[in-house]
Amino acid sequence: MAFLSIENLSMRFDLPKGGHVQALEDISLAIGKGELLSVLGPSGCGKSTLLNILAGFLAQTSGKVTLEGREVTAPGPERGMVFQKGALFEWMSVRRNVEFGPRMKGMPETERNTIVENLLDTVGLHEFKDKAVYELSGGMQQRVALARCLANDPDVILMDEPLGALDALTREKMQGLVLNLWKKTGKTIILITHSVDEALLLGERLLVMAPRPGRIHREYRLPFAERAVAGDLREVKDDPGFAHTKTEILSMIWEMEEQIMSGAEA
Ligand SMILES: Nc1ncnc2c1ncn2[C@@H]1O[C@H](COP(=O)(O)OP(=O)(O)OP(=O)(O)O)[C@@H](O)[C@H]1O
Ligand SMILES: [Mg+2]
Repeated sequence: MAFLSIENLSMRFDLPKGGHVQALEDISLAIGKGELLSVLGPSGCGKSTLLNILAGFLAQTSGKVTLEGREVTAPGPERGMVFQKGALFEWMSVRRNVEFGPRMKGMPETERNTIVENLLDTVGLHEFKDKAVYELSGGMQQRVALARCLANDPDVILMDEPLGALDALTREKMQGLVLNLWKKTGKTIILITHSVDEALLLGERLLVMAPRPGRIHREYRLPFAERAVAGDLREVKDDPGFAHTKTEILSMIWEMEEQIMSGAEA
């Protein structure tokens, strides 16, 4: 039995003015515990829809999602989500944000403090713990979002373009952080991105999705995440194999975009 299993998943949105969008069609996937999975694809191919169903925020039209054999029908603490931006309490301190989940569960203060201290060390924000979130840079805020998600100790971390709003340098540093977290915690991570570089680096397994209807177009098994954990992230990007796969995927997505454009014109 797969750790996280997606069976014949379909999602159709009926539009208020008639017609519908087939956001996902018959997706089946088995994801192992501790797997690092990245998902790429043109805009509108159903990436966020898939993640939102896994999070339990959206109910699929048909098919089934199970986590360790239990069917996913609603949000749960074993599945944590990190969004591109926000979803933090901006007026609260970093510490308050990170301890939010454990506090809601009624965890005693001393235990909460230990969790907060450890996580702020992990994401390198210890000295900022009493600052309000609005006082932090975008990169720091995303580190708070990661720490807050980890505070609930989820088995699966779902990330919808978590680094998309960051500048190139901060983004690269955060990619390193995600890789280290993955290795250190053994969490299962599913990450959506628009960056081919990022998908290659942060995916032992990479899915390329195609639109209309949203489906899995191609799947890769990649060595780069493991290599980047062991060595230097930039060196991995300089690998000829990295460049080769990147070109292949870029052409694939380029072709899909062209088809979407010509379909829209027809
Ligand atoms: N609540 C909704 N009602 C109607 N249609 C929706 C709804 N949510 C998503 N869709 C449609 O479903 C399709 C998939 O959307 P989704 O947001 O999952 O795409 P995506 O791959 O995440 O795109 P992007 O890369 O732009 O974030 C799109 O055609 C979108 O317009
Ligand atoms: Mg999206």
